[in-house]
Amino acid sequence: MKRDNFGTRLGLLAAAAGSAVGLGNIWKFPYITGKNGGAAFILVYLICIVAIGVPVMLSEFALGRKTQANAVGAFKKLKPKKSWHLTGVVAVSTAFIILSYYAIIAGWVLSYISKAVTGKLTSVAPSALGDYFGGIISQTIQPLFWNFVVLGITAFVVVAGVKDGVEKYSKILMPILFVLLIVLMVRSVTLDGASKGLEFLFKPDFSQLTPASVLEAVGHAFYSLSLGMGIILTYGSYIKKEENLVSLALQVTILDTLVALMAGIVIFPAVFAYGLEPNAGPALIFVTLPAVFKSMPFGAFFATLFFVLIAIAAITSTISLLEVVVACFTEQFNVNRKKATILISVALFVVGIPSTLSFGVWSGISIFGRSIFDYLDFLTSNILLPFGGILVCIFVGWVWGAKNAAKEISSDGLFSFKQEKAYSFVVKVLAPVAIGMIFLYFTGIMSKLKNVGPMLPNIVLGAIGLLTLVLAFFHFKTENSGASEEA
Ligand code: PFF
Repeated sequence: MKRDNFGTRLGLLAAAAGSAVGLGNIWKFPYITGKNGGAAFILVYLICIVAIGVPVMLSEFALGRKTQANAVGAFKKLKPKKSWHLTGVVAVSTAFIILSYYAIIAGWVLSYISKAVTGKLTSVAPSALGDYFGGIISQTIQPLFWNFVVLGITAFVVVAGVKDGVEKYSKILMPILFVLLIVLMVRSVTLDGASKGLEFLFKPDFSQLTPASVLEAVGHAFYSLSLGMGIILTYGSYIKKEENLVSLALQVTILDTLVALMAGIVIFPAVFAYGLEPNAGPALIFVTLPAVFKSMPFGAFFATLFFVLIAIAAITSTISLLEVVVACFTEQFNVNRKKATILISVALFVVGIPSTLSFGVWSGISIFGRSIFDYLDFLTSNILLPFGGILVCIFVGWVWGAKNAAKEISSDGLFSFKQEKAYSFVVKVLAPVAIGMIFLYFTGIMSKLKNVGPMLPNIVLGAIGLLTLVLAFFHFKTENSGASEEA
């Protein structure tokens, strides 16, 4: 079967940035920044993005391009007799589960567009908005209907293929997203009292910054850049050798970060200008912002623009999540693209039903103390994603070999890759250790250890420190011997 490729450099960038820019940027980044001390957190986040995000993104791009295969096939091609392809299985399963609930939030966004356009949203009294939102998501039929619409649009694009679907629509949607962001940003910062919001976002408050914030920054870097679940790997497999992966990874990262910051500049000045609370958490865009739009002249118009913006961001991401699963099925099981897309989309809809209902009639059901939706979010964001990330780093750094990855990154020497040494250290030592720490903290393992014995977390941290030294030792040893280079 001939594999599809991205047709143009701009299309490739739009698709990869479209995947990265999503609910993570516009919905999650602003509120976790608010929670962790504003600019202080942004600073840490930027360091994490550069030090860990970019190298891991390069690794995924290289894996995909080298093997010209999907997330499972890539590992099989490089190490056919080993079980490393299970890394791909974890990645594809993670993408599937994330998509099953991510599409639900995207569905809420679409339903908000329909309510903003008709002026219904801005007619609700601010004090009633919380109940209004609760009323929408706790229904049975409406959220399922919107989930169906999201999956339908996503499937429509993915069926058309990489060049005529993913690339074509990303190239149209991403510029619209930027225009909307700029319009909304200008609106927000020109409101009376907007400066307080900018201060909140950009004035560092180091007292709010804890070690947990640093881990949250690493975790969010993965989430936001779409790493650890085979998306970037799959997109890498559609990239030609003549593309410079380093500049591509940097551009995607810069665009992703820019959109996150711009989203903050849209949201906080407006929230402060109307005297509302910036720390509503996940309800920020669905409850706080509609109150802002209600008070604003032409509020229904700006509300519509805002929710269209989020819908675009979300849908270019659902496209990439679906593409990972579809690419894997078409290639591993030899199913045609149309059949695979339809089957997987139907499966996603069915799997999404319990999550949807967990906001309504099934809200009483809990898995390990969380609702079905919250549990899936926790399982994927805090367990599977870091797990997949570590496996990718270990595979690329130690099994395939950082030198081989670097060779692919430089397109076999076509482009210079001056940062090779730093790259190699990050994928082999720094990234696996940092992600391992997130894993231990976010899964609650560390706090459980503390309950067993107050000294245990320190012992574990000591062991991690030792492991880091051992990894660094072997890293420098192989670095100097040049042993792992493939023929
Ligand atoms: N990177 C996108 C976002 O930030 O929303 C899409 C996405 C990728 C979401 C990976 C979630 C995820 F785990």
